[in-house]
Amino acid sequence: MTKWDDEIEGQRLHPESLMMSYGYKPEWSEWAAVSPIYQTSTFEFESAAAGKRAFALAHGFVEADPGEEVGLIYSRLNNPDLEIAEGRIAVWDDAEDGALFESGMAAITTTLWTHLRPGDVLLASAPLYGGTHHFIETILPQFDIRVVRFDLATPPKEVSRLVDEAGGRLGMVLIETPANPTNDLIDMDECVRFAAQYSTPERKVPVAVDNTFLGPVFQSPLEHGVDIVLYSATKYLGGHSDLIAGAATGSKEVLGPIKAMRTMLGTMTSPWVGWLLMRSLKTLRIRMDKQAENARVVADYLRDHDKVKRVNWLGHIDESHPNWELYQRQCKGPGAMVAVEIEGGELEAFRFLDALRLVKLAVSLGAVESLAEHPATMTHSAATPEEKEQFGITDGLVRLSVGIDHDDDLLLDLEQALKAV
Ligand SMILES: Cc1ncc(COP(=O)(O)O)c(C=O)c1O
Repeated sequence: MTKWDDEIEGQRLHPESLMMSYGYKPEWSEWAAVSPIYQTSTFEFESAAAGKRAFALAHGFVEADPGEEVGLIYSRLNNPDLEIAEGRIAVWDDAEDGALFESGMAAITTTLWTHLRPGDVLLASAPLYGGTHHFIETILPQFDIRVVRFDLATPPKEVSRLVDEAGGRLGMVLIETPANPTNDLIDMDECVRFAAQYSTPERKVPVAVDNTFLGPVFQSPLEHGVDIVLYSATKYLGGHSDLIAGAATGSKEVLGPIKAMRTMLGTMTSPWVGWLLMRSLKTLRIRMDKQAENARVVADYLRDHDKVKRVNWLGHIDESHPNWELYQRQCKGPGAMVAVEIEGGELEAFRFLDALRLVKLAVSLGAVESLAEHPATMTHSAATPEEKEQFGITDGLVRLSVGIDHDDDLLLDLEQALKAV
């Protein structure tokens, strides 16, 4: 056993420990304890034959021999910072493989382009992050991909009817749970069963879950039979509001074609961002745990405030809540996203947002800094008024991403901001 294995005396180490060195060998880089940034566009081949072999492996013309390292070619295909960071993200989801992208949207769109063909139906949950919503509702139909939307309240029979009415050739299921910005849940097991009904021996209908809000610490979609886990790595995985990236995890079989599409679209992330993600993943658990702890303090306070109409935070789901069983089955923790509806409407929500001092008025989420935004006019402004009403994106709704600030200071800031309403 070497010092850099992932187990000690036959016992697999936990993700928190594996983040320190998994996938990196110091002898590669002058014994640097932490992987350097391999800021290079291309890699030299030891010989022409080695270059030929590297290309044959990259194209899948030949299988790698046991123990054979696949040679590096060019940073659009791969780079050590990407490979190591991908391996570490896969560790968190206990996945066979991981893939990194230039943004969360790049992860989502590259996956959709890989799996959908003209005439297919995409079944997608509602609501979805505004960018994803816009892409599937506005761009995919231009390629004759029909989109059917559903939420937790839509009975499976009705979903079947809608899919059949749209042509019946289900190409993929894409869900976001909890949903941005409302924290609505979607039943992953139900989606996996549904996709299986439409799968054929020739074509399996994959289920992809956008796990940005809870994952990978508080939700593990692969344990539910989901095929592809997607992330805006800009959020909790990155965690410091200083990078844009996306990620996917799943089996090698499922991620292989997505990585091949990524190579063609050029939607991979850069060595520098891969390196930043490695830095971030070391503190992922402590950040997410602390953020969820702070979110409890914030959500409890807001729930009891007379200028607040409604708070939607997963930690408030108890035995009396209709989603209790679902929450228990698929979430390992409540996370730190709080949807809070201020009494009144846009005017009151804006007064609140403008008065915040510690909490930054900014889109994005999952960072150590606390952030607040107004979904109806910002992240989800592309949705029609009917869609906003249907998805619960009201004029008074504020989305809070709770950070690691001192909880006393968070309450101080919220209290003074609510006075301005
Ligand atoms: C749930 C969710 N998915 C995907 C995205 C898109 O990610 P990115 O901004 O990294 O492209 C976001 C961004 O806010 C998001 O909140």
